[in-house]
Amino acid sequence: MQKTISDILRSPNFNSKTRINGWVRTKRGSKNVSFIALNDGSTIKNLQVVAEANDFDDNLIKNITTGACLEVFGTLKKSEGKEQSLELLASELKILGEANAEEYPLQPKKHSLEFLREKAHLRFRTNTFSAVFRLRHALTFAIHEYFNKNGYVNIHTPIITGADAEGAGEMFKVSNFDFNAIPKNEGKIDYSQDFFGKQTNLTVSGQLEAELGALALGKVYTFGPTFRAENSNTSRHLSEFWMIEPETAFADLNDNMDLAEEFLKYCIKYCLDNYKDDLDFLNQRLEAEEKGLKKEERSELGLIERLSFVLDNKFERITYSEAINILRNSKPNKKKKFQYLINGFGDDLQSEHERYLVEKKFKKPVIITDYPKSIKAFYMKLNDDDNTVRAMDILFPLIGEMVGGSQREENLERLSKRMEEMHIDKNELWWYLETRKFGTCVHSGFGLGFERLMMFITGMKNIRDVIPFPRTPKNAEF
Ligand code: 4AD
Ligand code: MG
Repeated sequence: MQKTISDILRSPNFNSKTRINGWVRTKRGSKNVSFIALNDGSTIKNLQVVAEANDFDDNLIKNITTGACLEVFGTLKKSEGKEQSLELLASELKILGEANAEEYPLQPKKHSLEFLREKAHLRFRTNTFSAVFRLRHALTFAIHEYFNKNGYVNIHTPIITGADAEGAGEMFKVSNFDFNAIPKNEGKIDYSQDFFGKQTNLTVSGQLEAELGALALGKVYTFGPTFRAENSNTSRHLSEFWMIEPETAFADLNDNMDLAEEFLKYCIKYCLDNYKDDLDFLNQRLEAEEKGLKKEERSELGLIERLSFVLDNKFERITYSEAINILRNSKPNKKKKFQYLINGFGDDLQSEHERYLVEKKFKKPVIITDYPKSIKAFYMKLNDDDNTVRAMDILFPLIGEMVGGSQREENLERLSKRMEEMHIDKNELWWYLETRKFGTCVHSGFGLGFERLMMFITGMKNIRDVIPFPRTPKNAEF
């Protein structure tokens, strides 16, 4: 296979003949010589191509503009330039694809992230997005590597599901009905005539099926797309996002917290150890971006410092009741600065409260456990107080909720009772209940929002900028 720029920079073979393909980032120079910064996506770094005017047709050089795709053959030389250690002295130059300078939207200047979102088909070609998407790959790889090393079996849970009972969010419907002639029976939609013979949706989580796997394979995880039709147009919500959900048999909530903490640290360390060039670039990008902010809006730590800080510190673990006490007595609560004031037990934590706890109070990731049963899902294990459940949320600085998980209710009677109390149709989840009837055991799991972790690792502040083609309310372009 032909070498990439990354291969060449790693082990340059000076004075050898080399062929390289890539896209032009910039071209500068004089009448006699052109310097072309070529990037092939293998690294944030460009290869400098030197083209001497005598060797090439004027028209050819003229058409080498930002965005054009080139094939270059030449000799690798040590460079005298300050910015690079080597360059390719071209002897053959071919334009594989021109990019008309008048029409190509990405010019060698700073473009706003909002503008680039509208050019998502081309934004891969910018330094920022190439770094982000290499890191997205890195993180995917690290996740699979971590679970593989720890004996977890990857299972694929369904994307189309007939179960809409989890209550994790509004669901998108899946149907092949003719929308202009939906079959009805006594005024109600007759789903028995739909494709699957019943009402189906896009999944909001693979958890319930992952639990079935764990109660046989012991340790399993899913890593798939999940869909939520909530109309939340925030910088941290997508309608289609990816979630990692491990489920572990014979593990209680403490084991679950230990797993989540070790796993998150492993993933962050993998990126720091293997993708330092991209992180350095994003670190500088963030610094430059924050220069434009007011002092109190800037982050205290740079991107790399922030990642290292998470590695070096144990996550704070507190109960929901402790969190409520801290918040109730906090300055912003007393001075009525919170939009939602905390009165006491039972209040749901909003993102302003979560951010107060992680950014002001503890200044590190915080795990909150033992939430009131009234604000959590039916499957969470009830504590002996009959009032709180063995839930955990992991909150991160700048992000808020990164992980949500729990120990599961493994007792058939208690689970049935909770479902009745919460008006969840037991007939629909008959298969879920059977795992409690046959060979049940203590087990736990959690869900990590992949894009939320991507935001933390890359320092990107809008979740739309860490997934190639974001789906959000009123937006499904590309
Ligand atoms: O807290 P959630 O809703 O938990 C579950 O779905 C459980 N079934 C997980 C489990 O125990 N196996 O979602 C888990 C995580 C959140 O903590 C958040 O990081 C992310 O998924 N998340 C979203 N990320 C992007 N856009 C959205 N709309 C998200 N909703 C949740
Ligand atoms: Mg949650």
